[in-house]
Amino acid sequence: MIPPQVIDKIFDVAPIEEVVGEYVTLKRAGANYKGLCPFHDDKSPSMSVSPSKGIFKCFSCGQGGNIFQFIMEHEGLSYPLAIKHLADRYNIPIEEEDIDVDELQEEARIKEGVYVCLEFAKKHFYERLNDSQDGKVVYKPYLTERGINQQTIDKFQIGLSGTEKSHLLNEGLKNGYTVQQLFDAGLVKKINEDQGIIESNLRDTFIERIVFPIYNVSGKVLGFGGRIIKKDTKAPKYLNSPETIVYEKRKQLYGLSISKNQIRKSDQVFLVEGYMDVVSLNQSGVENVVAASGTAFTEEQARLLKRFTHNITMLFDGDVAGVNASLKHISTLLEAGLNVRVALFPEGEDPDSFIQKRGTAEFQSYVSEKAQNFIELISEIKLGENKHDPINKAEAARAIAENIASIPDPLKRAAFINETATSLEIPERILIDEVNKFKLDNRKQKERETRREARQEERNIADGPPPGFDYVPDFTEFKSPEALNVDKVNYQELELLRNLILYADREFDEEQNVAQFIFKELEEDEIWPMDDEYSLIFKEALEYLTEDNVLNELYFIRNPKTSKIAADALSVKYSLSKGWEENFEKIVKTDEDNYKRQVVENLNYVKLKHIDILMTENQEGLKTAETEEDISIYQNVHTNLQEIRKKITDQIGTVILR
Ligand code: UTP
Ligand code: MN
Repeated sequence: MIPPQVIDKIFDVAPIEEVVGEYVTLKRAGANYKGLCPFHDDKSPSMSVSPSKGIFKCFSCGQGGNIFQFIMEHEGLSYPLAIKHLADRYNIPIEEEDIDVDELQEEARIKEGVYVCLEFAKKHFYERLNDSQDGKVVYKPYLTERGINQQTIDKFQIGLSGTEKSHLLNEGLKNGYTVQQLFDAGLVKKINEDQGIIESNLRDTFIERIVFPIYNVSGKVLGFGGRIIKKDTKAPKYLNSPETIVYEKRKQLYGLSISKNQIRKSDQVFLVEGYMDVVSLNQSGVENVVAASGTAFTEEQARLLKRFTHNITMLFDGDVAGVNASLKHISTLLEAGLNVRVALFPEGEDPDSFIQKRGTAEFQSYVSEKAQNFIELISEIKLGENKHDPINKAEAARAIAENIASIPDPLKRAAFINETATSLEIPERILIDEVNKFKLDNRKQKERETRREARQEERNIADGPPPGFDYVPDFTEFKSPEALNVDKVNYQELELLRNLILYADREFDEEQNVAQFIFKELEEDEIWPMDDEYSLIFKEALEYLTEDNVLNELYFIRNPKTSKIAADALSVKYSLSKGWEENFEKIVKTDEDNYKRQVVENLNYVKLKHIDILMTENQEGLKTAETEEDISIYQNVHTNLQEIRKKITDQIGTVILR
């Protein structure tokens, strides 16, 4: 168990806007912040972050909670590991033995092992580059010759792998890591694919290479890219870590953890091709730069970038490969709603070699002069010298139209169609037709994919849906995400819990606050939430209150069992727009002045539900009753319950009608 004091300390020193802000650019919106939600494909900022309450909430996908929930969701960690993550981040000491391994899920445990193993490897490689003979005599001088100084080596934690087959394997084992962990981390690989993960069948992944640690957006090591410096070898120039349980290549961008603040600040990012480009530009003071590192640029990477800026400039080699790569990336970027420009470098030059030769100022002016949008780029490539060749023009128009079709914003589409029409001297109407054709194609393609996925799904559930999943609710009014699960959630009890969260420490009357009133009522009527989860929450809250603590929203925000519900309950209030409040005040349940009415009403609904269940049980009993006496007892109970029920419904009626 991690001591509660540690958790409280983290809450005190880790402002939610800072924790979330590590992953998402937040803009102030009144007392809160808004940003693109990282948990779904968010088109406009749907996530709200409240510094005063310490919660985040996405109004589109429903994700919400406190800082730990955010880290759990985002890093895929269990609760104890999310605590550890933030404790490390804010230098709050936490004893290893405080983290109860039994609390960890199997996968989280494996992941954690892999993370520490990678961190160990990074440190070891870094020390080797700086302290070993090989490092000092051969590899560091190579970097120096390429213009990379110590400060940059430190900043990126560049290192040196072993030079023999099982250097890291041995070092890892010596330091207490298991063969399985080293293998799961992608640091060693099998010699013979058909044999098992045993020491004799393993060898280092990186041998005789300068290694660049690859970090995720928050700075955790996920793997490495390794460059060989020998020239007389058939081995590939760069070798990258394989995909592992922590390294999903399509979701990562090299350099992002280091560059994100500068990207935010300049509202602009440079996308380059290689590790050396990122490192070298950084050293020359151009810090808003990331690389896709040899892989195709994915939708996920585009979305990741979009959290920090909408403006991206690709800096690619002007050779055929570079041009083709940039063309391939463009539609992915446009589709994500990003503004894309491309600056091609003279053939044979890349951003690294260019800036090393000509310096930062010339680099900057070259880029701003050469950067083109995709229309200019495609026109240049397709038209070449023959600006008026009708066949080239048609080809250019088609390629441009295809890209325009992937832009989600209709206004931007219209503007680009207009620009294309003017520059290619082609009637707008024809371009619009062409764009629409591509859009239709895209849509059909998407539909085909969806159908294919659906069929796949159908096959997967050929045995029929699990019990409880065949219920199709018909919702005609807005409900909270929790309430949507009516088949699972007892939402009378949920509503009462929401009231408790919102108003616990408010005055109910001269003698008691809302929490005291709720618990007194429940106890008097011998009613307790039936839902296991809510039952436990109420029980713990009551204990907390009985120990003379102040039970208020902070308790529920910080409690891992309730923080998501608290985020939801507390967010509705500040999400309501002025217009909404003015027009719908009568039906909005969070109306401040009516909190007492709400509490009474919800208590009544909870009671009503209990009584209905008791009545049903009683009816069942009546059916099977055998003696006269039994029958009359059941009938009496029925009459009593009916009376209580009527009292409650009458009260609900008067409360509602007032
Ligand atoms: P480049 O061949 O352009 O290398 O590959 P570079 O970045 O200019 O590196 P230096 O300057 O020669 O050291 C660009 C990127 O493509 C991937 C790497 O991510 C590299 O940074 N790549 C390249 C590989 O993955 N494997 C290779 O064999 C080569
Ligand atoms: Mn290069």
